[in-house]
Amino acid sequence: MQISSTGLLLTLLAITGHSLAADSVTERLKQQFKRPTSIPFPANNPYSAEKAQLGKMLFFDQRLSRNFNMNCATCHNPSLGWEDGVPGAFGGQGETLKRNSPTTLNLAWSDRFFWDGRAPSLEEQIRGPVESAAEMNVPLSTVAQRLNKVEGYRNWFARVFPGDGIRENGILKAIATYERTLVSGTAPFDRWIEGEENAISVSAKRGFTLFNGKAACSQCHGGWNFTDNQFHDIGLPSDDTGRMAVTGAEQDRHRFKTPGLRNISQRAPYMHDGSLSTLEQVIVHYVVGGISRPGRSNKIIPTPLNEGDIRDLTAFLNSLTGADQPVSLPILPY
Ligand code: HEC
Ligand code: HEC
Repeated sequence: MQISSTGLLLTLLAITGHSLAADSVTERLKQQFKRPTSIPFPANNPYSAEKAQLGKMLFFDQRLSRNFNMNCATCHNPSLGWEDGVPGAFGGQGETLKRNSPTTLNLAWSDRFFWDGRAPSLEEQIRGPVESAAEMNVPLSTVAQRLNKVEGYRNWFARVFPGDGIRENGILKAIATYERTLVSGTAPFDRWIEGEENAISVSAKRGFTLFNGKAACSQCHGGWNFTDNQFHDIGLPSDDTGRMAVTGAEQDRHRFKTPGLRNISQRAPYMHDGSLSTLEQVIVHYVVGGISRPGRSNKIIPTPLNEGDIRDLTAFLNSLTGADQPVSLPILPY
């Protein structure tokens, strides 16, 4: 029997036509999650390799805390997705803070910082933890004086900020530059987006479809870093008023910044108060929709997901963790 090649192709298309259409929807969706190819740095604080290296030393330097007992990595630990693994961080005096440490990954793409967005830039965010009595508890001016006594730092600052000496502004700019270089590594999900069909499991692929479809997560967790950078009340029971403390507006009560979901499997516990300890618990929260109150986002709609769906969504979330290189600790100047 002879079949022309065109005839064969048409027959195949007729058999697989349905799934081809579904595949092209998935292909279009995948494009929305493509990683960027470069990091944006602001014009008033451009990148240089030396500035980032200086910022790295400061990020890991305990001289930024009153009692020399903590550095930024105490609460933003590279091995814990740049968080600290506990619900509510431990402060410099040993007491527990009310809010959970968020990740410092992928913040070059963010424009408001802290859970309530009260800092408009990374540079301005940094003074918060350094000077807060519950955290590092030291005036930035004291930090500048301390660093000034160290010859190694005097040389570094002279190279990076010629003629300025060691100033508060330089400290903030260097740390912010280092933070912008913290980008989550390529994850199995990214390899799948790039066309490596077996990079993630069939279950994770179903999870991706749910995430963008029935479970409607991508309404807020959209784009390559899985955040809209907006503030929402998702119905958590915590009494923290969130963004309302910043704007004074009643409609902002209980609204918090949407966290990105990259490396999320390393970043438990979850939410601004660390109240949920596993990804399954997070998904179950969305199935129920939390507390129904006037301010809760109208994008939070209780969704009937079965156990299989929850497994698939979890598999998808787990595919977002990159193979990051271990972060070496810097040798600090003395
Ligand atoms: C005691 C633990 C602790 C230390 C030390 C600490 N942080 Fe944080 N960090 C937190 C907590 C908790 C929050 C959230 C606070 C809030 O939203 O009110 C936070 C928030 C942030 C954010 C905002 C992230 C976002 O998504 O908006 C950045 C950036 C950050 N910290 C960087 C730093 C840097 C840089 C240092 C060192 C100078 C530092 N942190 C030291 C606990 C800590
Ligand atoms: C209305 C917008 C919105 C929708 C829809 C939404 N989220 Fe969220 N998500 C948020 C916000 C805001 C937070 C932080 C809430 C807080 O801490 O108060 C959050 C937190 C999370 C966290 C914890 C992140 C962390 O760093 O602690 C995960 C995981 C998560 N969401 C996954 C999902 C999944 C999965 C879905 C779909 C089932 C979903 N989200 C739907 C806005 C949303």
